[in-house]
Amino acid sequence: MSSSPVAALLGMRPHQVDGGALRQLLGGRPVVVTGASRGVGRQVALRCGAAGAHVVLLARGADALEDLVAEVASTGGSATAIPVDLRDLGAATAAAERIVSAHGAPALLVSNAGHSIRRDLADYTDRLHDVTRLAGVNMLGPIALALPLLAAMRQARSGQLISVGTVGMALPGPGWSVYAATKAGFDAWLRAISPELRRDRVAVTSIHLPLTRTAMSAPTYRHSRLPSLSADDAATWVCRAALTRSRVVSPWWGRLGGVATSALPSLVDRISTAAWRRAS
Ligand SMILES: NC(=O)c1ccc[n+]([C@@H]2O[C@H](COP(=O)([O-])OP(=O)(O)OC[C@H]3O[C@@H](n4cnc5c(N)ncnc54)[C@H](OP(=O)(O)O)[C@@H]3O)[C@@H](O)[C@H]2O)c1
Repeated sequence: MSSSPVAALLGMRPHQVDGGALRQLLGGRPVVVTGASRGVGRQVALRCGAAGAHVVLLARGADALEDLVAEVASTGGSATAIPVDLRDLGAATAAAERIVSAHGAPALLVSNAGHSIRRDLADYTDRLHDVTRLAGVNMLGPIALALPLLAAMRQARSGQLISVGTVGMALPGPGWSVYAATKAGFDAWLRAISPELRRDRVAVTSIHLPLTRTAMSAPTYRHSRLPSLSADDAATWVCRAALTRSRVVSPWWGRLGGVATSALPSLVDRISTAAWRRAS
């Protein structure tokens, strides 16, 4: 679907990545990728490994990470696996400290791990744990991991944090309230710290990813004909952002939707309500 004319019109294509420039940027340097056990993170790790980076792979699935270490090595790269549950904030901080002491300041932190739940408000009245679970993996854990890594980058006066967020942060819709809120919370944190980090030559990029075919989207969109990216298409967005160091990467309609949500909130609310009524 990502090669269809509609997908192209919507800006949902792989981005061009200059392999030589990526190798020059990342070759021999540490790159940290969270959520590396599958999906977008796995593809990002493979691309960074192929560019000569030493890739530090984080996720809970230890076996999948070890398989990926071997796969990166088979392409001539090198990688280290650190199994961690980001909802355990102490473990996230300890993982970051371990990375800094073993590898120094990373050239790149790709904060990609995430979890989504589609559930209407009425269905989680007695499920506060849905909120704490998503806050842990989408916001608090990523901050706990980033703090020591960003401190090391600031000291080195180089590096970049790329966050894999969603277009839903600017266009939050019914059913996705907890997912959108927790992803947007992390993104607001990035917006606020970006100017502080820029002073120390550390860049921050927020990627507003549209629908991507992975295990995460499969339960809701497996049979959907909506335009979508593949996991590797999404990885090209991350690798291109490492080269451009853009502040935000978003399809044009994501940016437009964000402006409309801010400028015309009542109208957008009415449209969302009508769409939600039709769907439910
Ligand atoms: N797929 C989409 O349509 C879409 C659209 C917009 C944005 N995104 C964003 O893209 C990013 C990647 O998503 P994806 O589609 O590649 O999803 P995915 O295939 O489900 O992968 C999610 C990754 O996050 C890791 N993870 C989940 N919970 C974790 C935890 N508690 N601690 C540590 N790691 C954890 C998973 O590994 P383990 O289970 O092994 O821990 C896995 O590696 C996410 O941030 C997502 O919000 C996705």
